[in-house]
Amino acid sequence: MNSLLRALRYFRPDAPRISGVALLLFLSTLASLLKPWPLALIVDSVLGQRPLPPFFAHHFDGWTKSQLLTALAGATLLLHLAQGFLSAAQNYGAIAIGLRGLRRVRDEVFERLERLSLRSCQGTQTGDLIHRASWDTYSFQTLFQQGLITFGSALLSLALMVVIMSRLNSTLTLAALGTVPLVLVSIRFFGGKMRDRGTQAQQADSRITSTIQQTIATLPLIQSYTREAHEAAAFTAQTSTACDRRLAQHGWELLYWLAISLAFSLGTATIVWLGGRQVQDGSLTIGELLIFLAYLTQLYDPLNQLSHVGATVANAGTGAQRVFELLDRPDEVADRPAAIGLAPPAPGGIPRGALEFDQVSFAYQPGQPVLRELSFAVAAGESIAIIGLSGVGKSTLLNLLPRFFDPTAGTVRLDGQDLRDLRLHDLRQNIAVVPQEPVLLAATVAENIAFGKPGATHAEIEAAACAAHAHDFILKLPQGYETAVGEGAARLSVGQKQRLNLARAFLKDAPILLLDEPTSALDTESEALVVASLEQLMRGRTTFIVAHRLSTIRRASKVLVLEAGRITQFGPLPDSWGSSPP
Ligand SMILES: Nc1ncnc2c1ncn2[C@@H]1O[C@H](COP(=O)(O)OP(=O)(O)OP(=O)(O)O)[C@@H](O)[C@H]1O
Ligand SMILES: [Mg+2]
Repeated sequence: MNSLLRALRYFRPDAPRISGVALLLFLSTLASLLKPWPLALIVDSVLGQRPLPPFFAHHFDGWTKSQLLTALAGATLLLHLAQGFLSAAQNYGAIAIGLRGLRRVRDEVFERLERLSLRSCQGTQTGDLIHRASWDTYSFQTLFQQGLITFGSALLSLALMVVIMSRLNSTLTLAALGTVPLVLVSIRFFGGKMRDRGTQAQQADSRITSTIQQTIATLPLIQSYTREAHEAAAFTAQTSTACDRRLAQHGWELLYWLAISLAFSLGTATIVWLGGRQVQDGSLTIGELLIFLAYLTQLYDPLNQLSHVGATVANAGTGAQRVFELLDRPDEVADRPAAIGLAPPAPGGIPRGALEFDQVSFAYQPGQPVLRELSFAVAAGESIAIIGLSGVGKSTLLNLLPRFFDPTAGTVRLDGQDLRDLRLHDLRQNIAVVPQEPVLLAATVAENIAFGKPGATHAEIEAAACAAHAHDFILKLPQGYETAVGEGAARLSVGQKQRLNLARAFLKDAPILLLDEPTSALDTESEALVVASLEQLMRGRTTFIVAHRLSTIRRASKVLVLEAGRITQFGPLPDSWGSSPP
């Protein structure tokens, strides 16, 4: 309940619009209830002999019957038109408000996603996060449109209908309301069946989609292992299941409509029979009987809506709840209230970038430490090669510096300040990262390189690309620096992506440089070239570089060897290493 109220709060800024929609809703319901009345007047007072009701008698005094007929036909047209326009305007307004609420939630969710710690968005959770951020946010729109507006309109038109009917004739009202339990039971019983079959059909369909997706992704595998016939047989089994399930769903739908029309034909027959007798004995007019018959058919929509509102709201409530869980996650890494800013270093002053690890331990899972009590210090401008077996924690160590996560115990300091006391934005401004797996945005080559320095000139971008030895291959791309790369765009080799990532870090020109195996995918020749420019770049910057090749390690002023989460060696490159690291 709490999450429902909280979800509706996203619509509060639209309160004036909501009042407008409520007014339109009221007017369109009124128009819809007035629609059968002109025909009733025509039947009773134009075709029949009944005097006009006092209101009309006063206004249409002296009109001939054929003039009255024309006027009432015109009124029928006007009422239909008015109801059509009012309900269209009301629906449009409600949809617009629903979408504006959806937009507000999505903006907030995106802002939250951007602050998620690296740890919580790695691995299996990605699918769940995407689902919460894209699909679950629709629940807010559903809650407003179905939960509030549709519910309100159904309730209003039912209530008005019952009031009007009971003022006309209580026996017929009871007869009309007699169909209500029948309709509700049909909706409940068949609705449940249809939903179950629908879900099953949906599941079968989504299995088909994912098989197609998977087949496209593993096509090289299927073809090279000649598994086509086997895969096709498996797929045929799936399409056959999907076919059966859809058919079952449609079968139940047809039964449902049969049951509903049975309920309404019973209602119609009862009203015609009872009403006919009342017309015979003069206690009801034919026009009034027609109004009852018209209202009987108008009962279905609001009843159907009301009977579904519970399930819809419950579903949407769960979705909204999942969104709130994401929004309410505490920030793993956040600014402290009194976080200190980092002013740009004064020219000629003390260089920035002295780093110190003081008894730093880190564990992804409690009780399974990856880094254990690391203590070492690096002077500003020094370069450290980090060496260790795969999985020992090299990338983890680098990730502590931009505070992608914080140490479980111990302190990392920059120029004597605990990183956690610094303003996160300022700290990260001072660090350029080249991640182990090169990341490209869905943008042009130039935009990818300039990501860390918006507004960089073309000359700066080109200089960075030259330093990363990316310029030559970029020029060979179809549109050079303006070629779109990244998801779904031009394909680059892993080595080319690495060089674009390097160029991006070069352009950022930060005092601290974190390079995680930046040249692992390059051939020896390009590596030598990239390392040569790396050496230039490393000069005067505190650099951590994870590396395996001795040629790269040699360029660093110190090596740090990690074994089983501890430092086993820290200092200048030992001569004993000769031509390969131990
Ligand atoms: N997000 C995570 N959640 C849980 N465990 C993790 C996570 N990331 C890494 N690990 C674990 O932490 C350990 C260190 O990982 P890390 O990526 O730092 O190793 P690495 O030294 O960089 O290895 P490589 O040379 O293969 O890149 C590994 O055992 C890994 O399984
Ligand atoms: Mg790594």
